Amino acid sequence: MNLRDKIISNAKKHNKKIVLPESMEERTLKAASWILQNEVGQIVLIGKKDKIHEEAKSLGIKNIDKAEIIDPDNFDKLELYAEIMEEMRKSKGCTKDVAIGLLKNPLYLATMMVKHGDADGEVAGAMNATGDVLRPAFQFVKTLPGISVVSSTFIMQLDNESIGEKGLFFFSDCAVNPDPNEQELAEIAVSTAKTARDIAEIEPRVAMLSFSTKGSAEHALVTKVRNATIIARKLDPNLLIDGEFQLDAAIIESIGKKKAPNSYIAGRANVLIFPDLQSGNIGYKLVQRMAGALTIGPILQGMAKPISDLSRGATVEEIVEVIAITANQAAGI
Ligand code: ACO
Repeated sequence: MNLRDKIISNAKKHNKKIVLPESMEERTLKAASWILQNEVGQIVLIGKKDKIHEEAKSLGIKNIDKAEIIDPDNFDKLELYAEIMEEMRKSKGCTKDVAIGLLKNPLYLATMMVKHGDADGEVAGAMNATGDVLRPAFQFVKTLPGISVVSSTFIMQLDNESIGEKGLFFFSDCAVNPDPNEQELAEIAVSTAKTARDIAEIEPRVAMLSFSTKGSAEHALVTKVRNATIIARKLDPNLLIDGEFQLDAAIIESIGKKKAPNSYIAGRANVLIFPDLQSGNIGYKLVQRMAGALTIGPILQGMAKPISDLSRGATVEEIVEVIAITANQAAGI
């Protein structure tokens, strides 16, 4: 069974409830329909029932009546959610009235459903920017204990099975943190290793990427990566991690042996940690678009409850995959 099928099959077993706040968006509705049709999980949509049904009908979708639909103008938990929001962010000026106003935005309402346990996870981002999806989650769902930063990873599957884990890689952080500091970069490495273990059941071999390999260049940017490697080892002493590496030294065995002969990771990495968001975001899109890698993600990690942000260019198939991954995360896989 390939990794995608495994993720779908795990989601089916656990039948989690995923809220999709962009409920009138075409690809999202088609993905919801596929999930319901194949009994991969339960779906919650937010909006007016008749409008959603009308839209689904115009798209030729016949099974949307199997989704639960929450009408934000007539939802009995609005007051309760607003009270929780006020309580959590009073010091930031969030009164109950402000909270009621925020809950008119389906992204906030969906986040609060997850926070309160009325949905197991949320997937959005087909029509909203990353920041707009993540901000409510950062404010109200927050991070896991011991983690200060939410980050993201992409699963990249290449045809070339001679590199990575038979062509499989995890790339981080390619979607969230613009300029992580040393501590944050270390946490991104540790979180990604956990995701790789949980989702792909592989032993992560983590390479911290730079334009230098083991001191071949000196620069403040290289020092940041080197120090993050040291911090990550302290955070997780069992983690197989090394750096700093240039990309070729990290993934090509012959080059790794030459440039970093004493490293266990050099030439064998299956988890690649980019030093910042510019390199990470450009890097994953290069591999996706120019090398034709099958790309699954972004998968958010470090959040106290599973909330996933889609790329706005996501296809129906990619939305299905992210819904299934979110369900896996909700099941603790
Ligand atoms: N983890 C946890 N909490 C965070 C994080 C994080 N990574 N980043 C911000 N926060 C918290 C802050 O501490 C703050 O909390 P508080 O209000 O309780 O004090 C809250 O979130 C808001 O923080 P801001 O710094 O004001 O966050 P802002 O909303 O401006 O930015 C964001 C956060 C949206 C994630 C920003 O870092 C961003 O825009 N990142 C880039 C996203 C992007 O464009 N990605 C590329 C496209 S995605 C793709 O191609 C697939």
